[in-house]
Amino acid sequence: MRDISVLEKIFSGELTCGQKLSLEIIRGLSESSASRYVVPSSSAQISGVSFYNIGPEGIDFLDTFAKNTRVKIKTTLNPGAFDTDNPGNHINSREVEFQKKIYSIYESMGISLSLSCSPYFTGNLPLYGQHISWSESSAVVFANSVLGARTNRESGISALSSAVTGFTPAIGLHLSKNRFSDVEIDVKDKLDDPVLFGLLGAWCGKNIPGKIPLFHMNTDKHVGVTHLQALSASIITYGGASMFHIEDFTPEWKDYPLPQSSKSVTLKDLNYLWNELSDDFEYDKNTLFFTGCPHKSMEDSLSIISRTNRTNFLCAGPRGSCKINNNSYMAGGCLAVSRLPDNIRKIVTDSVKAMFYLKNRGFSVKLVSAEEMDNLK
Ligand code: F3S
Repeated sequence: MRDISVLEKIFSGELTCGQKLSLEIIRGLSESSASRYVVPSSSAQISGVSFYNIGPEGIDFLDTFAKNTRVKIKTTLNPGAFDTDNPGNHINSREVEFQKKIYSIYESMGISLSLSCSPYFTGNLPLYGQHISWSESSAVVFANSVLGARTNRESGISALSSAVTGFTPAIGLHLSKNRFSDVEIDVKDKLDDPVLFGLLGAWCGKNIPGKIPLFHMNTDKHVGVTHLQALSASIITYGGASMFHIEDFTPEWKDYPLPQSSKSVTLKDLNYLWNELSDDFEYDKNTLFFTGCPHKSMEDSLSIISRTNRTNFLCAGPRGSCKINNNSYMAGGCLAVSRLPDNIRKIVTDSVKAMFYLKNRGFSVKLVSAEEMDNLK
């Protein structure tokens, strides 16, 4: 931990617009939490990349910020609005050019265009205990809980400020005292499908908002990465904490005193929530089948895509080094911040997080298990 004055010593002399603003943001965030300390940050992950979120004015701001400014640490970028190499007929060339412009500005600063919300699959894998500055919410929870790295849920601009300065305010989940679990959650039944882990996260958001749970999992099965991603993505989306612990499993569960209060959740509770959150409808030619929220690894994405025969099936995943010539693969894109063809009003997905955002945008969304999604390919 270093006194915040270290930033003035490192950044003296003539500064770029991006450096000046970054210093002000890190200073302002520290002050708002009454902290005088910063910690060196090992990596950054920037969200808020979609042209539909940033708009032309945002591009102008970013352009000014980026002039002669480079990042100091490993920095990766979240997905954009669509696959710029294969955007689909409903996206016009102006939108494609704007999205490409956003990428080129970030790239000019030294940011890696992995375009994935799962940076731990694309070369940005922090070590246990490292301080990082990530803004993609699902990745924030995954990093804190599964990897044991330390990050708050940054905004796109605060993560970028850390990337430019190499420091982040020593507040929130960077401090051990804020990483204790508040409540033990006894999961009474065995959960196998990743969608049930997603629903467990949503249940936490609704029943213990903002509290860090310590899960006692009733399972004799290995909890896979897809399960942990589903839980990480939904817990924060539905109002839960930016971190969880799993007994006998996640790296820090034993490092702190056990919580004093407890609650239990059953499969029946999760199925009830499933019925409550999901829409129900018949599939027709205007129904879109969607998976890949959060992004899976490139290997898993390729495996899904190679086995699909549907024309109305979409898998979002990282931008890869290999070119995938398949309309079903949305390389480096995110459906939640994209624009869909006008005829699509019904979406079937295995992602509890995607369901939240797509329903908020007015789509009818049916949640199916990962197993059912696999059969729908
Ligand atoms: Fe990733 Fe978009 Fe889902 S950023 S976690 S695919 S909402």
